[in-house]
Amino acid sequence: TQLHFVTLLGSLRRASFNAAIARSLPQLAPQGVSISALGSIADFPHYSQDVQDEAFPPAVLAMAAQIQAADGVIIVTPEYNYSIPGVLKNAIDWLSRVTPQPLAKKPVAIQTASPGQIGGARAQYHLRQSLVFLDAFVLNKPEAMIGLVPSKIDPQTLALTDAPTRAFLTRQISALADLARTLQQ
Ligand code: FNR
Repeated sequence: TQLHFVTLLGSLRRASFNAAIARSLPQLAPQGVSISALGSIADFPHYSQDVQDEAFPPAVLAMAAQIQAADGVIIVTPEYNYSIPGVLKNAIDWLSRVTPQPLAKKPVAIQTASPGQIGGARAQYHLRQSLVFLDAFVLNKPEAMIGLVPSKIDPQTLALTDAPTRAFLTRQISALADLARTLQQ
């Protein structure tokens, strides 16, 4: 059966390397998988229960519905100060308050990219921790930590040009598809 995954981007930067990775994923999807981007988390207000009690922001409800309908989520994010960006945590906090909670039992893969050597590895474990509370099924392996990312992206087109990274990401998406199919049985 055909699977559909959605990408959740943790950077708001216009020339974001992580956005470049996320944009490359639809082309890198293996047979039987299609991938599209969720809306921007820039449209989410700062979480406050007062705002929630008035009304959920439309951008939050729209994203929750798209995640609910998807077979899996690929979170692509930078590492900020050895953790995840506040804007991504804010988005996760909002999504966690929606009923039904859209990430519950959802297959999730994590990708981080950084100019540094270890590709945002530390952020991955903070992200996994929050996803435990949300009861998501986070893919264990392979871990996608893309280090030295400026050398892997064309500065003009912002396309992911590094062939080994492209092949590796296809393998990770295949692993997420295997997980999703196993969970759907
Ligand atoms: C960073 N950066 C960074 N990189 C890293 O590998 N580990 C880290 O802990 C941090 N911390 C950090 C904090 C803040 C506030 C900023 C703005 C940046 C560098 C970061 O990886 C780099 O700016 C990337 O280009 C951000 O990803 P995007 O926006 O290009 O996708």
